[in-house]
Amino acid sequence: MKTVYVAIMGLGTVGGGTYKILTENHDKIASAYGIDVRVAKVLDKDLDKLKAAGISADVMTDKLDDILNDENISVVAELMGGVEPAKTFITKALKAGKSVVTANKELISKHWGELESVARENNVGLYFEASCVGGVPVIRTLKESLQGDNILMVMGIINGTTNYILTKMSDCGMSYDEALKEAQQLGFAEFNPTADVDGYDAMYKLSILSSLAFHTCIPYTEIYREGITKITKNDIASGKQMGYTLKLLAIGKREGNSVEVRVHPTFVRNSHPLASVSGSFNAVFLKGDFVDDVMLYGRGAGARPTGSAVVSDIVYCAGKNKHEHTDFVNNGKVAEGIEIKSDFSSKYYIALTVEDKAGVLAKITDVWGKNNVSINSISQRDVADGVAPIIIMTHFTSENAVQRSIAQLSKLDCVKKVDSIIRVID
Ligand code: HSE
Repeated sequence: MKTVYVAIMGLGTVGGGTYKILTENHDKIASAYGIDVRVAKVLDKDLDKLKAAGISADVMTDKLDDILNDENISVVAELMGGVEPAKTFITKALKAGKSVVTANKELISKHWGELESVARENNVGLYFEASCVGGVPVIRTLKESLQGDNILMVMGIINGTTNYILTKMSDCGMSYDEALKEAQQLGFAEFNPTADVDGYDAMYKLSILSSLAFHTCIPYTEIYREGITKITKNDIASGKQMGYTLKLLAIGKREGNSVEVRVHPTFVRNSHPLASVSGSFNAVFLKGDFVDDVMLYGRGAGARPTGSAVVSDIVYCAGKNKHEHTDFVNNGKVAEGIEIKSDFSSKYYIALTVEDKAGVLAKITDVWGKNNVSINSISQRDVADGVAPIIIMTHFTSENAVQRSIAQLSKLDCVKKVDSIIRVID
């Protein structure tokens, strides 16, 4: 039996879950994988928290050096979150010859190449299954189960907070503010929800997942990002009437050397498997050139699911004699020859408030026509106070053509407001 000594840095939600799994399932892991995983150190700046969690005095510490100088420790799990001091701690651990497992999507998406170089130089591993979609084994699937395929698309609901909010808006008729408040009260959303509701969390994850899926560096700065803060009850209700559910989707597509990567609210046709992923659940939908469609579904956050992914990496890492690193140039830049396409193609839902007067529709459709945007349907809702809400659904068209049309429509006196622009998938 191989004995592996592990250090946990950060005993928050995920750290606590990881500790619990390593303790409760110690014997199962030992018998199934022949690895006796022992937690040698748990580091946290709050020693009282460690005491309260029942961590023994010889295991608890608030000093990084206690981990770095312990030669028995070969794997360090960084579960503190945020960029600093996590980056410094990980770098020091790698340089001390310890492999690192992390759940830190922001850090990996911003500094992956740099950390990986340190890991390579020191012949140690850097693993981050828990950084994307919590307990759903999407990174392992991309790296180890689909080697035969060219991945053409990775598309998913990869943020549970926004999915919870959108589900509440859809199922209970709540406003965005009401649903956010409930999510905060239940602990699904942070006190400062920006990272989730403005799409940053999904953007970091998409950068990691699309880089792995497409075997090329997709910097997070290249990802088009739009959050859910402007979504209204009216949008959700109009979508419902037309057979769509609103989701915050992360979408990556590769066609030859052209890649498109975007995070934005999307109307998903109710018959699509992603439409039924509700509440705080996550799902990732992959398309390979041979395997075709694969969908992974599960919990993307929380102590137990994310802890499960961390422990999976610890066991995986402990079983490796030689650590593998990415097969592409991972320098935080778009590779030469790869084009990140900003003018992607989609169907669109556009909501406008216009004057209720003869000739208005003609003026509006004229703008779309001149920009070569083909309309699939146009409907006028309840007229009140001389203004009419108009809903336009387009056929597939280019993002730039839609933005150009919107800019021109906004200048028309008869257009009082552009209420919403939402991309649509069937
Ligand atoms: N905040 C994330 C979410 C979980 O809401 O899905 C951690 O990545």
